[in-house]
Amino acid sequence: GNLESIKDILDEPNHVFIHGDVADYVTVDQVFRKYDIDGVINFAAESHVDRSIHYPLKFVRTNVTGTVVLLQVARDYWKGRESGKVFYQISTDEVYGSLGPEGVFTETSPYNPRSPYAASKAAADHFVNAFFHTFNLPVVISHCTNNFGPYQFPEKLIPLSILHFAEGKLVPIYGTGENIRDWIYVEDHIRAVDLVFHKGKPGRVYHISANNPWRNIDLVHKIGQLVDEYLGRPVGTYRQYITFVEDRPGHDFRYALEGRRVREELGWSPRLSFEEALRRTVKWYLENSEWVEHVRTGEYRQFMQKHYKLQF
Ligand code: TYD
Repeated sequence: GNLESIKDILDEPNHVFIHGDVADYVTVDQVFRKYDIDGVINFAAESHVDRSIHYPLKFVRTNVTGTVVLLQVARDYWKGRESGKVFYQISTDEVYGSLGPEGVFTETSPYNPRSPYAASKAAADHFVNAFFHTFNLPVVISHCTNNFGPYQFPEKLIPLSILHFAEGKLVPIYGTGENIRDWIYVEDHIRAVDLVFHKGKPGRVYHISANNPWRNIDLVHKIGQLVDEYLGRPVGTYRQYITFVEDRPGHDFRYALEGRRVREELGWSPRLSFEEALRRTVKWYLENSEWVEHVRTGEYRQFMQKHYKLQF
C-alpha cells in the first residue's frame, strides 16, 4: 500500500489507519475488538501477475493466509450474531482462467486459474465459500475486469505505457500484443463495490464489467496518441517507443465477464466513456510526477513511517 495515495484524506475523522499484517491473527483480532467491526471489504492483495511469477509464496501469504485469517477472526468475533454483518471478498476475473476468441465467464463458471496470482485468489475464494457453507458467515464475492486510473502502481500496462511514452522510454509489448483485456475505470469499479457491500445478498457472486475489451497493441497505440496530444508533440511521435518483447509465461489470452446481475439487481452502470477515463488517467500521471517518483524510488514507504507509528 501507499499512504501517499490517500494524502488528501489523511486528516478526515472517518477512518483509522493501522499498519499491520493482514495474515497475523492477533493484529486482526485486536482491530475487530477495538473498533467493533461489523463489515469487511477485503482488497488486501498482491495483485501483479509478473511479480507472482517471481515470488509465488508472497502471494500465498497475503492473498490466501491473509484472507483465511480475516475469515477466521470474523467468524470468531461475529459468532451467533452474524445477521447484518458482511464479509465482502474482492476477487478477480483471472480465477476463471483464459478464454479463446469467443465466449464469456458467467457467475457460475468453474475456476481454472493459470498464474500463481490467479491461483492464490482462487484459493482465497474457495475459503470464502467454505466459510459461508460451513459456518454461515455472510459473504459476498465480486469479480472485476482489469482496472485503470490514478494511483495505480506504474508496473501495470496503462500507467507504464503513459509514463514511458512521455519519458521517451520503450514500452514493452509481451508476445504479439494480441491478448485481450476488458478495462474498467477505477471509480466505476468502486461505485459497484459500494453497491455490492450495501445491497449484495449473502452467498452471492457479482461480476463487474464495463464491456470494454481491447487488444493490448490497440490499447497501447491509443495511449500513445493521447500522450502525444497531451504533450503537444507531432502526431505519431510515440510509435518509435513501442517494442515487442518475449511473452509472459502462461500469458492468458483473454478475459471477459458476463455482468448483468450487478446492472439489473443493483442498478450499476459505468459513468465515464473509456476515452474520457483514459484521457483523465493520462493527465493525472503526467501531472503527478512527485507521486510517481516516490513510488519508483521507494520513498513512499518513508511517508508511511513519518505519519504513522505501528499501533499494535
Ligand atoms: P497487466 O497490467 O499486468 O494486468 P493483467 O496481467 O492482470 O491483465 O497487463 C495487462 C496486459 O498487458 C496483459 O495481457 C500483459 C500485457 N503487458 C504487456 O504487454 N507489457 C507490459 O509491460 C505489461 C506490464 C503488461
